[in-house]
Amino acid sequence: MSRERDYDEISDRLKRRYEEDALFKDKNKEEFRVMEEVFDRLTLQGMYKLFKKGVIDRLHGVVKAGKEARVYYAVHPDGRELAVKIYYTHTAEFRKGMMDYIRGDPRFKRVRKNTRSIVYTWNQKEFSNLQLCEKAGVNSPRPIEFIRNILVMTFIGEDGVPAPLLREIAPEDPSGFYGLVLDEMQLLWQKAGLAHGDLSEYNIMVHEEKPVIFDVSQSMLTIHPMAPSLVERDIGNINYTFRRLGVETRDPEELKEWITGGTEDLY
Ligand SMILES: Nc1ncnc2c1ncn2[C@@H]1O[C@H](COP(=O)(O)OP(=O)(O)O)[C@@H](O)[C@H]1O
Ligand SMILES: [Mg+2]
Repeated sequence: MSRERDYDEISDRLKRRYEEDALFKDKNKEEFRVMEEVFDRLTLQGMYKLFKKGVIDRLHGVVKAGKEARVYYAVHPDGRELAVKIYYTHTAEFRKGMMDYIRGDPRFKRVRKNTRSIVYTWNQKEFSNLQLCEKAGVNSPRPIEFIRNILVMTFIGEDGVPAPLLREIAPEDPSGFYGLVLDEMQLLWQKAGLAHGDLSEYNIMVHEEKPVIFDVSQSMLTIHPMAPSLVERDIGNINYTFRRLGVETRDPEELKEWITGGTEDLY
């Protein structure tokens, strides 16, 4: 290897560092200041890359901070509203749980066992699942970009205010809404080839009186042996929620049959 090339590479790297730091110091100081307290250097670098690539124009506040991730509100250079989900890279407790949902997925054959790699794969899995949802026409956030532990998707809501969760607001027509959720579940299974696996009133938003299905990182391909039990659990959660809303829910077995195989109208 030539010395000159070495030198070029090093100066390139320094130049990039300089640009990132400049970006950090000037334009987005405020935006990064808060992030710095929670996220490590690699995550911040990932964010810099997204700014540079023109995926994000402005990063705003936290929409929600959970145990595994934080969701930020951001704006695309073209004005589109974005949700930026950033997974913590030090959530060691959930590492085993994540592996249980990654193992056996043909999309992710070789995963390094350190926490950071597992979280990156987890994020990539959510992105890939959102792509499957998009292709199938499932009503879900649209994937825009992912890098490392950062996922950029369309924002569900208006002016930085996320649409309410089904947990937080009762739909105007609960029974009709139940039907729409079941339709999404069927679409998810039959067209996207996915079992959600964590479907509940916490992972459905009510947007324009329609259900938006999100949080699909744990969702598994229907070809996976775990998929049928996941869909059973999802049906149980959904029926529970709608019974609480006064809806006469359908028999879980019948629903499973319909979601995973049926083609006739349920109603
Ligand atoms: N695309 C989005 N648009 C608007 N808000 C979102 C979006 N994705 C997530 N959120 C908000 O962030 C919260 C957490 O997101 P979620 O994907 O469920 O992460 P967690 O793994 O923490 O449950 C949601 O309850 C919702 O309020
Ligand atoms: Mg969630």
